[in-house]
Amino acid sequence: MLVAAKEMLDKAKAGHYAVGQFNINNLEWTKAILLTAQECNSPVILGVSEGAGKYMTGFKTVADMVKAMIDELNITVPVALHLDHGSYEGCYKCIKAGFSSIMFDGSHYPIEENVEKTKELVAVAHAMGMSIEAEVGSIGGEEDGVVGAGECADPQECKMIADLGVDMLAAGIGNIHGKYPANWQGLSFETLDAIQQLTGAMPLVLHGGTGIPADMIKKAIDLGVSKINVNTECQLSFAAATREYIEAGKDNQGKGFDPRKLLAPGFEAIKATVKEKMELFGSIDKA
Ligand code: 13P
Repeated sequence: MLVAAKEMLDKAKAGHYAVGQFNINNLEWTKAILLTAQECNSPVILGVSEGAGKYMTGFKTVADMVKAMIDELNITVPVALHLDHGSYEGCYKCIKAGFSSIMFDGSHYPIEENVEKTKELVAVAHAMGMSIEAEVGSIGGEEDGVVGAGECADPQECKMIADLGVDMLAAGIGNIHGKYPANWQGLSFETLDAIQQLTGAMPLVLHGGTGIPADMIKKAIDLGVSKINVNTECQLSFAAATREYIEAGKDNQGKGFDPRKLLAPGFEAIKATVKEKMELFGSIDKA
């Protein structure tokens, strides 16, 4: 069932668990995540970056594929189709394409401009029955060519953006996209706590979910994080399982080169990673 993300995240915040956002890249990714959510009876958010949207030939292809797959696979758990780190123009494209949720990442603008653009998009998204995520304080690392320094967000600025009526708020707390470097300082729980104190019931979003130790994830959920984004970890499990298949020469055995066989181990690996995250985030049986 395709829905906006607001209700599932408000329930997660009240119930002290988090809903996973898993980024999709193609049909296999989408199918693996949807089936796992259904098997786990968990709400789920499918994240689509602008680069992934382009790769899949455009947001309309993505929205139509996701809707058709939910229908054909009889997916009854709540599923939100969400633009990840959207530009101002990208948000409008996804609204038009039939997404159920958007993220406007105005964190690289001066705060006044971030406020102005977010405010406009909140009104448009809500008029369309969609949910909207905003961002304050950039998330470090590189995603789709966008490089963020990884600063900690200013809690007062978070309050300004939260007060605009966004449904979820991403705030930098030392998290970064991709693998964490060996000298990573960890999450700033002090910043998270200060943000949570000022933004109250607002579901907070933790980007860069790959590689954050389980105890930090649990503490972040205790401090108000209700949505956790995971991208790289599914890519790593897919790649490792595919490598193992090829290195074992299985593509040369029988019809092992058939894409349905070749991609199967990676598909199963994504499913296992998604299930593991849903267990850690506490969203199983919360559909
Ligand atoms: P990772 O790739 O580090 O899991 O981050 C995903 C993310 O935050 C998407 O917005």
